[in-house]
Amino acid sequence: MTESSPIQVSEAQIAVHWREEGYVEPAQKFVEQANAKDPAIFERFAEDKFPDCFKEYADLLAWDTPWHTTLDTSNPPFWKWFVGGRLNACYNCVDRHAEANPDKTAIIFVPELESDEHVHISYAELLRQVNEFAAVLRDSLGLKTGDRVTLHMPMVPELPVTMLACARLGVIHSQVFGGFSGTACGHRIADSGSRILITMDGYYRGGQLLDHKAKADEAVLEAVKEGQEVDKVLVWRRHPGQYASQAPMAEGRDVFVDELLAQHRGAVVDPVSMPAEAPLFLMYTSGTTGRPKGCQHSTGGYLAYVTGTSKYYQDIHPDDVYWCMADIGWITGHSYIVYGPLSLGTTTVVYEGVPNYPDGGRPWRIAEKLGVNIFHTSPTSIRMLRKVGPEEPKKYNYHFKHMTTVGEPIEPEVWRWYHSEVGKGEAAIVDTWWQTENGGFLGSTLPALQPMKPGSCGPGVLGVYPVIYDEDGNEVPKGSGKAGNICIRNPWPGIFQTIWGQPDRFVSTYYTKYNKDQDSKDWRDWPYFAGDGAVQAGDGYFRILGRVDDVINVAGHRLGTKEIESAALTVGEVAEAAAVPVIDEIRGRAVEVYVSLKPGFEPSLEMADKVSRAIETEIGKIARPKNVWIVPDMPKTRSGKIMRRVIASISNFADVGDVTTLANPEVVENIRHHVQTEKVARDDVPRELTELEFEEIKKFGAET
Ligand code: WTA
Repeated sequence: MTESSPIQVSEAQIAVHWREEGYVEPAQKFVEQANAKDPAIFERFAEDKFPDCFKEYADLLAWDTPWHTTLDTSNPPFWKWFVGGRLNACYNCVDRHAEANPDKTAIIFVPELESDEHVHISYAELLRQVNEFAAVLRDSLGLKTGDRVTLHMPMVPELPVTMLACARLGVIHSQVFGGFSGTACGHRIADSGSRILITMDGYYRGGQLLDHKAKADEAVLEAVKEGQEVDKVLVWRRHPGQYASQAPMAEGRDVFVDELLAQHRGAVVDPVSMPAEAPLFLMYTSGTTGRPKGCQHSTGGYLAYVTGTSKYYQDIHPDDVYWCMADIGWITGHSYIVYGPLSLGTTTVVYEGVPNYPDGGRPWRIAEKLGVNIFHTSPTSIRMLRKVGPEEPKKYNYHFKHMTTVGEPIEPEVWRWYHSEVGKGEAAIVDTWWQTENGGFLGSTLPALQPMKPGSCGPGVLGVYPVIYDEDGNEVPKGSGKAGNICIRNPWPGIFQTIWGQPDRFVSTYYTKYNKDQDSKDWRDWPYFAGDGAVQAGDGYFRILGRVDDVINVAGHRLGTKEIESAALTVGEVAEAAAVPVIDEIRGRAVEVYVSLKPGFEPSLEMADKVSRAIETEIGKIARPKNVWIVPDMPKTRSGKIMRRVIASISNFADVGDVTTLANPEVVENIRHHVQTEKVARDDVPRELTELEFEEIKKFGAET
């Protein structure tokens, strides 16, 4: 057992202490209307039907040219799906529904201010907007198939319009979460080689109209520093004709989209027929090293996968009103606000603001008013809404048939509130486990056919075969009570194609660990390593324990410790920095940062604040640490590596364990005393850790 091996034997002991929850059955009314209610579906997706079982998903799409090879494995692990096929993602999400059902509502936009009316956009109207904006991209900007464009947009319908217009032309969009800082956006512009940035002047959040355009100027500066010129910044206006930002428009570079659109009224742009394997978009995510990973998703495989899983796991029918409260800036929003629901021709809700604005009853008022019947959110939002308004859902007359949770483990107690109060005992719940890299769900129950189990995501989804391996590559049998690394044995159509510009990192991060033969062309030799710890119960249901790499999951958002640490190190006075997770009642985890200063600098509140601000500037508000602790020295091994698990234990008031082998054991007590006294004084003591959480903290951070 080495210090750095992420899953250790001790996990086995905790896993057996975890109490199995009982099953909860879906309501009969749900089952009767479900898209997947015939168990024959399991036969169609049985292992011996792989990979052709996924034809069922691909057949939900309109293809210009049919594919000849379902899965090409000739260059592992760069899998190719539906080879030979051609299609256009925008056509599939817009045109075909606009032809069949032009007046049907595609998007309902709900502005954050409750006094503002919501806006219905029909499929015909969406088609018109997408065509005109595609004309802007092609004819005013000269963009063509294969070019990358960075988007840094808030939750407004102009975002799906922009994405779909790119897709119409085969232009690869890379939407950066609107809450990320300009600097973080700049890194992503440079990494993707985008010459165009598309943004918005401002948007509402927490009742304020935020100035967003200012971030575009920082983004362009950062990209230029990294050698990437940005020719044009397109600025959508939150209120067309009025400019909501203080930032000046740079002459020759910045253009208002509404002014450009005026030149393309009524334009019609033919959708470009794209090969199934052409990239559709990049979605950046955090990993172990500081450089973010641009996950490259395909057109045919991705769209088929999100359409199929939206149909069977989200149970979307065309006449549903579906609301996923995630942000389109994350993969959940791409797959399950935009591409999946629109491909199925349903109505998808886009809500601009925060769930609890102006109060904890807002989501339920929206649901009542719009007749939402499918609801999708994260454990952090559920915990928060439960805290601010446990009795609120009852006050409103809405009825969900189906609800989703995604992004983090959900505590069984929180799950039960979601089920009985939010879902009024009527809604089937799916707890969906997956990742940015995966395109769509990997672990979930099929809602009408497999009972729910609070705290477990369920078995592998149709056609996806997860397995748990120990550190030596031995399969951990289900029901053994032992935890290990969850992997997927087979490729699936939604899997990302590569990390943009970093193919070697793609192979080494996700496939090398359990690859049996690097020359093998057989997919069976290339299990996908997900980077999550998990345990599988006797019934085949998985419980996801969390990341095994140096990633902290804050409110369902992946933050790399290295990214946070490099941001702290941009402060000139900082000598060393270490980021650790601290248990947080609402957000699951929060981040605390420890820094030591270069000689000659004294700790002060101002210094801590400076570090905090640097992190916010480099990454964004979501990464702002709960506390910055300035310490005289970091606890280190004799070889000089920072022992992050020791400081993580201190932040969480957990036993630091044996520190006698450290190079400087005396600093530990010093830091503990200082940090914990402060935390007690600030009434910031986390609740007592569960055994699982204690294990997580104890093994946190490879000692680098
Ligand atoms: C975690 C979000 C428990 C997991 C779609 C994963 C979950 C990371 C669940 C991916 C779930 C996601 N239960 N943990 N249902 N879903 N996770 O890339 O650690 O933002 O590796 O994708 O979130 O986060 P990402």
